[in-house]
Amino acid sequence: MERSLSMELVRVTEAAALKSARWMGRGVKAEADDAATMAMRTVFDTIPMQGTVVIGEGEMDEAPMLYIGEKLGTGDGPGVDVAVDPLEGTDIVAQGSWNALSVIAIADKGTLLHAPDMYMNKIAVGPEAIGMIDINAPTMDNLQAVARAKNKDIEDVVATVLDRPRHAKLIQEIRESGARIKLIPAGDVAAAINTAFENTGVDILLGSGGAPEGVLAAVALKCLGGELQGKLVPSNDDEIERCVEMGISDLNRVFCMNDFCSGDDAIFAATGATDGELLKGVQFKGSKATTQSLVMRAKSGTVRFIDGEHSLQKKPNMVINS
Ligand code: FBP
Repeated sequence: MERSLSMELVRVTEAAALKSARWMGRGVKAEADDAATMAMRTVFDTIPMQGTVVIGEGEMDEAPMLYIGEKLGTGDGPGVDVAVDPLEGTDIVAQGSWNALSVIAIADKGTLLHAPDMYMNKIAVGPEAIGMIDINAPTMDNLQAVARAKNKDIEDVVATVLDRPRHAKLIQEIRESGARIKLIPAGDVAAAINTAFENTGVDILLGSGGAPEGVLAAVALKCLGGELQGKLVPSNDDEIERCVEMGISDLNRVFCMNDFCSGDDAIFAATGATDGELLKGVQFKGSKATTQSLVMRAKSGTVRFIDGEHSLQKKPNMVINS
């Protein structure tokens, strides 16, 4: 893959964040998501690549844009698998809450996991704790392992968990271990990435969220030298059948880093739509808007934070100049 694709992808996530951020706090999530999706789709078409969506807005019959199998890019350049979440955290934007992102991951063709749209149980850590976690181990063991790896007392370890009734037992186990908990309303891609950055104050992500989001988070952690393990959690016969159709017959299978992205190279880009621990959200003032993005490449290990200032006079529709 061309390394210049990194910067091109930031233009895509910036456009999606800029468009969706206009809907912040307005209580409507579909509009925010549609705005992000439309912007992402428009800018993708200017990028020299032969992309195929493997993680997107749904199957062709349910999503008008960025559906699984859709071709993206100008049709020149490298063949790549594309995983997108134009707005990761639709509720977050609707509520004006924390950590909504526009997210893209690309990797060499045929190397990204085609994860079915269902829950996945996840455990994620940053570089210091790789090789120390086991999704099949008791919660206490994983928290102790992270504490040892990070040279902390277990009481100083912070676990992020989506605040959901399904996590009641997990939350109780974390509390019993003595570790601290950060309960989040949504957005487990940002939560997984945060484990790799000391200044976010979180050490581990535990619990179930979307499987597609698991792929995006795994690519981010691959770039950062972290680790994510996942296990699909099909909740009915249809979902079990979908797993089997996708060749996943062992429902206890643990997906490791190489299963999420089997190649050496991948690029991950995200722009904050609303403020988060790592990225500031979009700010608007008069004819200017500012964005903050993260873009990283697995092969080189380069991690860049990019502050963007956008002229709404010169680019009134915030996406591309006509
Ligand atoms: P959306 O972008 O679809 O709103 O997803 C947000 C999210 O919180 C993800 O980060 C997470 O993986 C998933 O939803 C959790 O699903 P649920 O809200 O059903 O627990």
